[in-house]
Amino acid sequence: MQRIGVLTSGGDSPGMNAAIRAVVRKAIYHGLEVIGIRRGFTGFIEADMEPMRLGSVADIIHRGGTVLHTARSEEFKSPAGRARAWENVNRFGLQGLVVIGGDGSFQGAQAFYREYGLPVAGIPGTIDNDISGSDYSIGFDTAVNSAVDAINKIRDTATSHERTFIIEVMGRDTGFIALAAGLAGGAESILIPEQPFSIEDICDKLCRGYRRGKLHSIIVVAEGAAGGLEIGKQIKQRTGFDTKVTILGHLQRGGTPSAFDRILASRLGAKAVELLMSGATGKMVGIKAGRIVDSDLDKVIACKKTVDLDMFRLAGILSI
Ligand code: F6P
Repeated sequence: MQRIGVLTSGGDSPGMNAAIRAVVRKAIYHGLEVIGIRRGFTGFIEADMEPMRLGSVADIIHRGGTVLHTARSEEFKSPAGRARAWENVNRFGLQGLVVIGGDGSFQGAQAFYREYGLPVAGIPGTIDNDISGSDYSIGFDTAVNSAVDAINKIRDTATSHERTFIIEVMGRDTGFIALAAGLAGGAESILIPEQPFSIEDICDKLCRGYRRGKLHSIIVVAEGAAGGLEIGKQIKQRTGFDTKVTILGHLQRGGTPSAFDRILASRLGAKAVELLMSGATGKMVGIKAGRIVDSDLDKVIACKKTVDLDMFRLAGILSI
C-alpha cells in the first residue's frame, strides 16, 4: 500500500482535526502518501483532493471543526455519485480510505467498498456518541463538557430568578449527551428518546421540589426526545412557574477539543492506518473498556447503540 485518502463527513465534531493529524502522521511515518479529501464525499465526487504533508496538520490538534471541511452528500447515496468518486480513486491512485464521521458516513463507506472493493477504515466522529462498536466517539466528551458549562451558567441565573429552565441539547436519535450532561449538571429531569416520559410526572416532581423550598429547576431535553420550546410551554401552562428555554444547538459542536477527545482521536487515527496497512477492509476502529479495538462496519451499521439505562435511573434517584 502506497497511498491512502482521508476525509471527514457528516456533522463535524471537536477532535476530528486530531484524528486527521494522526492519520496523516502515522501514514507518513510508515512511508505512505496521504491525499486529503475536502468536504467529505462531496469533495470525493468533485475531486477536491490534494496531497497532505507533515506540515499540513501542524497546529491543528487543539482546534475544533475540521480542516478538511465536511458535508452531508446526497449524491454519494446514489451509484452514479459513487461511480464518480471511483474515477477519482483511480485518478489519484488511492489504495485505501479513512472515513471519519458518523452512521450516515459509514453507510456511504460501506456501499463504496462493497461496490469497488477499496479498503476502507472508519473512525467514529460524532458528538451524538451513537455509534456501536465504540464506547465513545470523537467529540462527545467535548460536547458534554460544553453543555455542562452552559448548564452551570444557566443555574446561576435560574437561582437568582427562581426559575425553571429547560435546556435542549443535541442528539438526533439518542440521549447520550442529554444523559451525561444532565447527570453531571444535576438536572431535575432528563428527557431522552430511549425512555418514555410524561409531562404530568415532570410537573409533579417540580412541584414537590418547590414545596421543599427548591429555588430553581433544570430540565435537560435531548432534541430527539422532544422540542425544548414545547416542553417549556406545557410546564408553564401546568405549573404556572416562571419557565425559560435555552437551546444549546451548534455551540455543542464547536470549541477546542478536550484532552480526552484529542487522545482518543490520536489513538483511533493511528489504528485506522494500521488496519489499512494490514490489508483489513470494511472495519471501524473504536475504544472498548479503554482498549483500542476494531469491528466490522457491517455490524456497526446494523447495531443500534443505546444509553446506559442504569445511569438514567441513577440520575432520577439523585435528583429526587
Ligand atoms: O452530528 C450530529 C448532530 O449534531 C445531531 O446531534 C444534530 O441533530 C445534527 O447533527 C444537526 O445537523 P446539522 O448541523 O446538519 O443541522
